[in-house]
Amino acid sequence: MPREGGPGVLEAHRRDLPSPEPGQVTVRVEAAGVAFSEVQMLKGRYFGQPKFPFVPGYDLVSEVEEVGEGVDDGLLGARVAALTETGSWADRVVLDAKDVTPVPAGLDPADAVSAVTNGVTAWQMIHRAARVRPGQTVLVHGASGGVGTLLVQLARLAGAEVIGTASARKHEYVRALGATPVDYRDDVPARVREVSPEGVDAVFDHVGGPGLVDSYRMLRRGGTLVTYGSASTLSGTGHWIKPYLPIFARVLRWNATPDGRRATFYYVRRWPKLFREDLATVLSLLAGRKIEAHASTRMPLGKAAEALEFLASGRASGKVVLVPESDARQSS
Ligand SMILES: NC(=O)c1ccc[n+]([C@@H]2O[C@H](COP(=O)([O-])OP(=O)(O)OC[C@H]3O[C@@H](n4cnc5c(N)ncnc54)[C@H](OP(=O)(O)O)[C@@H]3O)[C@@H](O)[C@H]2O)c1
Repeated sequence: MPREGGPGVLEAHRRDLPSPEPGQVTVRVEAAGVAFSEVQMLKGRYFGQPKFPFVPGYDLVSEVEEVGEGVDDGLLGARVAALTETGSWADRVVLDAKDVTPVPAGLDPADAVSAVTNGVTAWQMIHRAARVRPGQTVLVHGASGGVGTLLVQLARLAGAEVIGTASARKHEYVRALGATPVDYRDDVPARVREVSPEGVDAVFDHVGGPGLVDSYRMLRRGGTLVTYGSASTLSGTGHWIKPYLPIFARVLRWNATPDGRRATFYYVRRWPKLFREDLATVLSLLAGRKIEAHASTRMPLGKAAEALEFLASGRASGKVVLVPESDARQSS
């Protein structure tokens, strides 16, 4: 990603990788996630993004090819997952061994990568931020997306009823996941009241902007708003922090005037010590078929620009994943 622009500005570069240093491993990437975060990064609108140029790629699943001094040889050949935030759209990557998590045998790499950023984000928001319990009702915004499909499934698994917003063309998809669909272009609070007249116990909001106030107001007493993005401000200008300041201010204000409801901002690095444990939990749920990955679009790494374009166009349902050229040929 050399500079701000559209997907067409992406460039492929070839460079020699250094050998792994002590405590590091070199991995061959088998699947790398494409996320709305990269759509935002390309516009210079993502929370905490690095300066251009950089190699994008929020997460990966890979095979360990080489280990540095002090790293257990038993890792050689193992399939591992990692959160990179940037850098996973590559053939090979050097990682700190302490940051990799083993992937259970038999899991497809593209399926597994869907559960890295998105799975941990969804799991931690449900179980650590909102503490969803059986019998509750929750509202998932963007229920057809990468994070949203996992939020719906994990909330259902926790015993909750789920209402999911999505564009009308994806309502059947959202219903099949187990949620009651609502069009986000419609009057969402009114539609939610029809399903759950007393409000909901949790709202997961990646949209931000003025609609965040509605998200808070839809909570019943004891409810939690988890805000975790600002997708609605993609076309804004200025520093990436700008759209987040009103979100933080609102969260502080709501929590400073207690009314039985609370709000919290979630970021995937919020509980760093719990990341690997929670990733292992989500991967085992996938391996045990308690949840499904919905890695519905697989494209070769060389087509990263097209993959990003496809995600940004709103045509994707579920997760878009980059795979090595040879794997893409086999699956096409
Ligand atoms: N805080 C964190 O740590 C963290 C971690 C991961 C992701 N995120 C954020 O989570 C968001 C989703 O990421 P993703 O990769 O899952 O994206 P994605 O796969 O592109 O999904 C985005 C979803 O948003 C929906 N959407 C678009 N406009 C909407 C609106 N006005 N109201 C409600 N939903 C709307 C889309 O629905 P349709 O397709 O039906 O239009 C789609 O389902 C991004 O903003 C990302 O930055 C944050």
